[in-house]
Amino acid sequence: MNNSMKEHWNEIYDSLDVDELTWYEEIPEPSIKLLSKCHINKDETILDVGAGASTFVDYLVNHGFKNIIATDISEIALNKLKERLGEEKATSVRWIVDDITQPIHIQNLRDVAVWHDRAVLHFLLDEKEQNMYLSTLKKVIKKGGYVIIAAFSLKGAKKCSGLDVKNYDQNMLAKFLGEDFQLIEYFEHTYYMPSGKPRPYIYTLFQKN
Ligand SMILES: C[S@@+](CC[C@H](N)C(=O)[O-])C[C@H]1O[C@@H](n2cnc3c(N)ncnc32)[C@H](O)[C@@H]1O
Repeated sequence: MNNSMKEHWNEIYDSLDVDELTWYEEIPEPSIKLLSKCHINKDETILDVGAGASTFVDYLVNHGFKNIIATDISEIALNKLKERLGEEKATSVRWIVDDITQPIHIQNLRDVAVWHDRAVLHFLLDEKEQNMYLSTLKKVIKKGGYVIIAAFSLKGAKKCSGLDVKNYDQNMLAKFLGEDFQLIEYFEHTYYMPSGKPRPYIYTLFQKN
């Protein structure tokens, strides 16, 4: 576990309300749009990597998905999400505190039908960390499974939460995932932060061969 990153994210989640976060979405529409293109059953596994306190998890629970895993390096983030969901809904989600760059628990998962990452990969600047992310993804995703990755686009911000980010387009993400993954759909999406300022993202959907 990268303890300084854990502290960094815990401090942010501790100091702000969820709807003040510069990535808060009331309704995670672009992710929902891409999920609707994934031909999966409600009992297949959806893994939200770096879920934080994301409302995507609420959407999944409220729409009857039965095998949801929310992971994050910050237990404070996941606790806020659990609290929002309420006890009954929270028990229907599997919670994993783990670092995607040094995973202990995530890498033991198998048969993930959808890997969802909004605004996490772009924080991994070091090649070693990116490689660990990728090898974990490849280990856990099932054949025919889907990968949704949303990152700051090439037009996007160069920093978030005081950290540098790597900006992506769909071709860079396709190259990163490699030839075992087919790009099915992508679009640019301008997210507006609570301050009203724009944040351009690239959203991508891939399927594993
Ligand atoms: C910008 S937030 C996005 C949160 C969520 N995906 C969303 O869309 O609301 C980035 C998230 O990645 C998590 N994170 C950052 N580095 C991580 C790592 N190495 N392993 C796991 N989670 C990480 C942070 O704690 C934070 O919740």
